[in-house]
Amino acid sequence: METSAPLFKKYIFVCENARAEGACCSPRGELLREALKKKVKDLGLSSKIRVSRAGCLDVCAEGPNILLMPDNLWFKKVEVKDIPAILEKAIGAVL
Ligand code: FES
Repeated sequence: METSAPLFKKYIFVCENARAEGACCSPRGELLREALKKKVKDLGLSSKIRVSRAGCLDVCAEGPNILLMPDNLWFKKVEVKDIPAILEKAIGAVL
């Protein structure tokens, strides 16, 4: 095994899990991830912030869920209108 520093300054994990029953983050998670990726790219921050899909983060009833790392900050019940606030949290420590 090898270890190294993370390649990116921030990681935004977006739950896209689809469950057969009950609450889940799909399909809204996919829409949020695509919107986040586009915004990060438009801001020229693709080399600093990585937006990745995640499986179930185990807080399904509060979804769609997004996790900002290494801040360990959760965003719950996220809507597209919340993306600027999420990026503001992520960018604050990057710039
Ligand atoms: S389905 Fe997203 S947290 Fe479980």
